[in-house]
Amino acid sequence: MMFPPVEKLRVLYDADTIRARVRELAGQIDALYGNEPLVVVCVLKGAFLFFSDLVRELSISPELDFVRLASYGNGTESSCSVAFTKDIELSIEGKHVLIVEDIIDSGRSMHFLLRQLEARGARSLRVAVLIDKRERRKFPVRADFVGFALTSGFIVGYGLDYAEHYRALPAIYCIPDGNS
Ligand code: IMP
Ligand code: MG
Repeated sequence: MMFPPVEKLRVLYDADTIRARVRELAGQIDALYGNEPLVVVCVLKGAFLFFSDLVRELSISPELDFVRLASYGNGTESSCSVAFTKDIELSIEGKHVLIVEDIIDSGRSMHFLLRQLEARGARSLRVAVLIDKRERRKFPVRADFVGFALTSGFIVGYGLDYAEHYRALPAIYCIPDGNS
């Protein structure tokens, strides 16, 4: 496995572009929920920076919670399953819920999470995702708030990792072909 140095990576979205887009999404979210009770749920680890920036741009003051999901199986898309390694701790009954995720790819993880949270009596359940790889979808999920749509490539930075590397970078980069 090879981890190219940051200088070898190509910037896809720089920090200013991300900041501006996050601000726009926060405006849409503010307008939608107003003063209704809202729980914003961060999907760890990948969404941690997007979530932190997004909630600080909101004018409303939601409750915050965190989940972590793991995929088990042999790694091929058809045979793996998803489980919580950390569940949320707040009750969501009667409250609006906004899930904040880094990337939706096949949709497997989000499909699992939506089904789990649907069973808990939320007043509404929506999804904000930084990167939507919607053309790669294998499970029927769609995001309500999308930062950027992406058709191909493997990306890192701003929370996103390649084998746990690059998460802390302030911008989003493409990993060159042949590395992932
Ligand atoms: P899905 O369950 O197939 O939708 O996979 C979604 C998860 O795969 C995301 O939450 C990411 O953690 C990971 N992922 C998918 N594409 C990328 C990428 O380009 N870079 C980093 N992580 C990715
Ligand atoms: Mg993820």
